[in-house]
Amino acid sequence: MNHFLDINTTGVSDLRGMIDSALAMKTARNGRPKGALDDDQPLKDHMVALIFEKPSTRTRVSFDVGVRQMGGQTMVLSGKEMQLGHGETIADTARVLSRYVDLIMIRTFEEQVLHELAEYADVPVINGLTDRSHPCQIMADILTYEEHRGPIAGKKVVWSGDGNNVCASFLHAAGQFGFDLTFTGPEVLDPEDVFVAEARSKGVTVTLERDPAKAVKGADLVVTDTWVSMHDAQSARERRHNQLRPYQVNEELMAHANPDALFMHCLPAHRDEEATSTVMDGPHSVIFDEAENRLHAQKAVMRWCLGK
Ligand code: CP
Ligand code: NVA
Repeated sequence: MNHFLDINTTGVSDLRGMIDSALAMKTARNGRPKGALDDDQPLKDHMVALIFEKPSTRTRVSFDVGVRQMGGQTMVLSGKEMQLGHGETIADTARVLSRYVDLIMIRTFEEQVLHELAEYADVPVINGLTDRSHPCQIMADILTYEEHRGPIAGKKVVWSGDGNNVCASFLHAAGQFGFDLTFTGPEVLDPEDVFVAEARSKGVTVTLERDPAKAVKGADLVVTDTWVSMHDAQSARERRHNQLRPYQVNEELMAHANPDALFMHCLPAHRDEEATSTVMDGPHSVIFDEAENRLHAQKAVMRWCLGK
């Protein structure tokens, strides 16, 4: 079963194939109205469940549109309104959904829920974000980098801010796609050791650097994300802001990167907190290409899951 649970648990050639297929599908649609079907209809007669236990704009809309462009049908479900949120086990939910749908995408809190769903489902399961990772986002980011600048292998990516779920998937991708990653942020918000160690074990350089200006020197790509994620306690907000303020991505920080460096943010952003509007709307920024590429990358992920 081709579950898409994380970038580090998916084979390198499969990942590369998905990026290439995403680019081919994007190119083939060039200029076509968004509601128009693709020439190829690999999801014809397929039903896809999109389950959200947390809010979403991009993941929800891009999966829904992607399925429809490939000829399939979707149902968008809120975890709270399902029996899942009222005590039915994940295993039973997985067995039941497998009788109705061909593919399940879930955005949830604990990654254990995702893994249990995948274990008991008879259909492929896709990770649409957990507290620990966000692989679909980073597939879109790799696609975006390579569209603008060519192969990401051997490049220097700098993550500035909280070592969160999106950062974790970047570390997974560093090992699989072969780029170096420098994390810059306060020690208390370092990415988990296990993610750092795994990337290093695959031969790429992972550096933890407290000084953001030093970290960004020579960067080909600078990335940040919200300082307080959906799973974080809101009570941590003020402390987080104080810890992370030195790591804001602003024009001064970007000036240390390579002149042709790109800036990415998965969005939603808190403008002028983790990144200034001057950077978000500036010449390095590709944030809306990233958002668009969620659509193309996830179409490739779904095809791979279904063996299409
Ligand atoms: N980047 C991302 O996953 O956005 P949403 O939370 O809007 O889905
Ligand atoms: N780190 C953020 C990403 C949102 C897409 C969160 O988990 O809230």
